[in-house]
Amino acid sequence: MDRKRMAAACALAGFALAGAKFAAAATEQDTAQGIAQYREMLADGNPAELIEMTGEDLWKESRGPKNASLEKCDLGQGAGVVKGAYAQLPRYFEDAGRVMDLESRLVYCMVQLQGMEAADVTKKPFSGDGQYSTDIEALVAYVAGMSRGMKIAVPQTHPKEQAAYARGRDIFYYRGGPYDFSCASCHTGDNKRIRLQDLPNLTKQEPARAAFASWPAYRVSQGALRSMQWRLQDCFRQQRMPLLKYGSDASVDLTVFLGVNANGGQMMAPAIKR
Ligand code: HEC
Repeated sequence: MDRKRMAAACALAGFALAGAKFAAAATEQDTAQGIAQYREMLADGNPAELIEMTGEDLWKESRGPKNASLEKCDLGQGAGVVKGAYAQLPRYFEDAGRVMDLESRLVYCMVQLQGMEAADVTKKPFSGDGQYSTDIEALVAYVAGMSRGMKIAVPQTHPKEQAAYARGRDIFYYRGGPYDFSCASCHTGDNKRIRLQDLPNLTKQEPARAAFASWPAYRVSQGALRSMQWRLQDCFRQQRMPLLKYGSDASVDLTVFLGVNANGGQMMAPAIKR
């Protein structure tokens, strides 16, 4: 770990500790209020900003067997254009012949431009609780941050984008697993919650926008930055379904479904979550 990253990791450990203390002090009634207060306190200093800086360094750094940076990576707006790219993902990529979300696209660029192995890059895409971000998480934070304030506009022009949406919707309503749950079981009602966690109705415009706009996010309770791929695999786990494969078509299809439902909203990621 270089010095810059070490400093960032130490700063984040401090944030995690503050988060843990706050969590221990909160009672059931004041948790929601406490979270709001905590968010306010961190409003000018979301720890994700440090991770965004690491991501920017990684984007520009020559790495991998080809000793190349990611600066020629096309995220959908032309080679090297990062600004606004995340607000328009997932989308169809001609060169890859498939619809990709940010994370699968980053893997593609790391393989194509830097000569890395996809299996290596995706072996451990998520950091552990309280650990500093993995490279891919940092890149996600950087790219997402470059769409802050922009309108979500996930395209539905290419037939493969339309097919991805339809499959994503099917997955969203598909019931299975030991509890016979679908995503819809938890995410189509209003004012539902599990313990203290509000369950957003992801089929309604306003909550769908608010949810999509806020990922990736810094999770205070885990002291870590979490991406949309992480969010989805964790909900698969909550649904007691088999593990969702990182960057798989199913994960991208679901992201298309959520993104299109959120179109017109305003990107505000990386956000901060409980
Ligand atoms: C057993 C209930 C359950 C099921 C089934 C479930 N989720 Fe979730 N989901 C949750 C909970 C609980 C949260 C909020 C967690 C939190 O606040 O920490 C959540 C959060 C989310 C979020 C983030 C919302 C936000 O505002 O940040 C998204 C997106 C999401 N789920 C999508 C899905 C998808 C897609 C599926 C199906 C693959 C799914 N969920 C299945 C319980 C569920």
